[in-house]
Amino acid sequence: MPCSSHTRNPFTAAETPAVGVNVEHLTKSFGSHLVLQDVSFAVEPGEIFVLMGPSGSGKSVLLRHVVGLEAPSSGRVLVNGKDALAAQTREHERIGMVFQSGALFNSLTVYDNLALYPREHHTATEPGIREKVMHALQILSLEDTAQKFPSELSGGMKKRVAIARALVMEPQLLLYDEPTSELDPVMSATISEIIASLKDEYHVTTIVVSHDRELALNIADRVGILMDSRIIFLGTPAELREPKDPQVAGFLYPKIDLKHPRFKKLET
Ligand SMILES: Nc1ncnc2c1ncn2[C@@H]1O[C@H](COP(=O)(O)OP(=O)(O)OP(=O)(O)O)[C@@H](O)[C@H]1O
Ligand SMILES: [Mg+2]
Repeated sequence: MPCSSHTRNPFTAAETPAVGVNVEHLTKSFGSHLVLQDVSFAVEPGEIFVLMGPSGSGKSVLLRHVVGLEAPSSGRVLVNGKDALAAQTREHERIGMVFQSGALFNSLTVYDNLALYPREHHTATEPGIREKVMHALQILSLEDTAQKFPSELSGGMKKRVAIARALVMEPQLLLYDEPTSELDPVMSATISEIIASLKDEYHVTTIVVSHDRELALNIADRVGILMDSRIIFLGTPAELREPKDPQVAGFLYPKIDLKHPRFKKLET
């Protein structure tokens, strides 16, 4: 675990029970565009659930339902048994979200980006906030970036800052949207390890939306695959290594058919 043992851990999340998530018959349309159709699955407290699927299949839309930023067309999403849309759920259940874009405030330093949530919610005094922020930065090996602005950081550093910021909320539920996209394989593996170790140390329920097959195989307790508006696979990484369903196999281990019309121009 990246958290060093000699530092006092200022986080309290480990003492808070992890929460479960239930997605029940979730259907979502934007106008006539059906994105999710009767999607159901449960994420157990303390597990890492990785949601995969092609681009545009509705993964981010689904995650937004879990944080209560999107309302279902029908069905519901429960966090710790309570409707994700209810204001009390958002107040009582601490949900950390690492957005696909990072969503850092460019005009604020890394330190101030991390301190924003505890300052606004008065969760600690300024020295307490400082302790939490520096601890989160230390966990992600980012102590040196505290006074830098996001524009001065690499893509991998920004992803780690986004994770550190979510951590400062001491979440019971941590959601990541494409945490390894646009990163090289080494940094992707590092981020995967960080996600797994945060779950181990804080017992935080974790949902990761990702295209990254290696991440899913290496850190997931269970995996779901979303395709054509539905969940087409729900199972363990072991089951994913040898998929029986041709659609699942085709998504995970695509074969390139050079005779396909899309390659015609290349052949001539
Ligand atoms: N607010 C919105 N209004 C209308 N359509 C939307 C809205 N948000 C998402 N969509 C549509 O829903 C579909 C799913 O989008 P979503 O962002 O969830 O895909 P994704 O699986 O996360 O893709 P990617 O892997 O590229 O991030 C897309 O066709 C998108 O255009
Ligand atoms: Mg997305």
